[in-house]
Amino acid sequence: MGDASTTGSVKITDGNKGSTDLPLLGGTVGPNVIDVRKLYGETGYFTFDPGFTATASCESQITYIDGDEGVLLHRGYSIDHLAEHSDFMEVCYLLLFGELPTVDEKESFVKTVTYHTMVHEQMVNFYRGFRRDAHPMAIMVGVVGALSAFYHDSTDINDPHQRMVASYRLIAKMPTIAAMAYKYSVGQPFMYPDNKSSYAGNFMRMVYGVPAEEYELSPTIERAMDRIFILHADHEQNASTSTVRLAGSSGANPFACIAAGIACLWGPAHGGANEAVLKMLEEIGSVDRVGEYIKRAKDPQDSFRVMGFGHRVYKNYDPRARVMQMTCHEVLNELGVEDDPLLELAMKLEKIALEDEYFVEKKLYPNVDFYSGIVLRAIGFPPEMFTVLFALARTVGWVAQWNEMIADPSQKIGRPRQLYTGPAERPYVPIEKRG
Ligand code: CMC
Repeated sequence: MGDASTTGSVKITDGNKGSTDLPLLGGTVGPNVIDVRKLYGETGYFTFDPGFTATASCESQITYIDGDEGVLLHRGYSIDHLAEHSDFMEVCYLLLFGELPTVDEKESFVKTVTYHTMVHEQMVNFYRGFRRDAHPMAIMVGVVGALSAFYHDSTDINDPHQRMVASYRLIAKMPTIAAMAYKYSVGQPFMYPDNKSSYAGNFMRMVYGVPAEEYELSPTIERAMDRIFILHADHEQNASTSTVRLAGSSGANPFACIAAGIACLWGPAHGGANEAVLKMLEEIGSVDRVGEYIKRAKDPQDSFRVMGFGHRVYKNYDPRARVMQMTCHEVLNELGVEDDPLLELAMKLEKIALEDEYFVEKKLYPNVDFYSGIVLRAIGFPPEMFTVLFALARTVGWVAQWNEMIADPSQKIGRPRQLYTGPAERPYVPIEKRG
């Protein structure tokens, strides 16, 4: 790291204190950034940017998004090409190590991941402590955090070998943990992983298989699941990834950091949106009511938003949404439900929104979550599992970003400043004199 180049400077002028030059740093592609690290020391000012709308929190070489053009690249490869030509294991390797694997590298990587797919048998007791109707994301936060209590030999973040073992463990165990959360909710026996199956195939078997019967999976559904995992694998410095980095910046162990990321992902403005989209489509109910909901979304007095629309970075069609829409048609066709009324409703909603002045002006386009709920529901997942699948797939991104941060010599504990508007210091009031 430290590969950014200084491309110039920006002068900050203050009527009272004179002017200060701040370096302008350039990356490979994307806008230059003003390096404000010396701003406070030289001027006594902080910057103010709630929600980090204009702040680069780190230097990274993993993922690049051009939100205006609707471009998403992982290590330089476009998401469309990866979704079409690679499988999820290759994308994991790419995110973690920077290059697509050779045949031998891929074989060895898959072997190492599958070696770690089982969870400590005592973790079963952990599940039994949850209510059967617990939200599976609540279980994920708890169980993933608890991994640090089971795998002590991979929690030393200063040892690169231990960091890599923890990374493999997290990627390998996440499908097992997610499938167990599902099995627990339906009261079926937990299924052990099958290392002969693909990553997606093994997950589906652990979710839908039962010990009493052979499990058969359609190759179209297996490929669709794998593609859904690819589409969610990483998305640069989004809220949950930034949460993982912030938690990790204090030196917390990787399992605790990923649990923090899962907690953040759960929110409806982030990973919880796929569940929220389905709820919204069910609430709208029929194509004739779309207009009413579009009207509500535009009303500043109404908090209703079209879930699955809009994005902090994309001001164009989310490139993942295009692939997801295609996958949606493939899956529904395979399952013989091409005329799913919710899909019809979603397509109508999308069409109306894309032509509506409000949505056009605010550059609100469908994001990855708009179609994913329909696909996952058709495959048979209950809505509460949608965000769990997102977490499963995003784990590799979190882990790659966490590793990059720990290995970066310029890494510091994340500690934002604030603009304080509370009371200035005042005399203490004894209780008998208050009120
Ligand atoms: N429906 C209606 N209006 C919207 C929507 C929407 N989905 N999204 C944004 N707006 C309006 C918003 O009211 C605001 O209007 P105004 O300028 O008049 O106040 C304007 O567009 C800008 O919105 P914002 O909330 O300031 O933008 P943001 O960058 O802070 O929020 C977002 C981005 C994704 C949280 C937001 O678009 C949203 O809530 N979308 C619905 C939830 C969703 O689909 N989330 C999934 C994101 S993609 C997957 C992921 O990364 O997890």
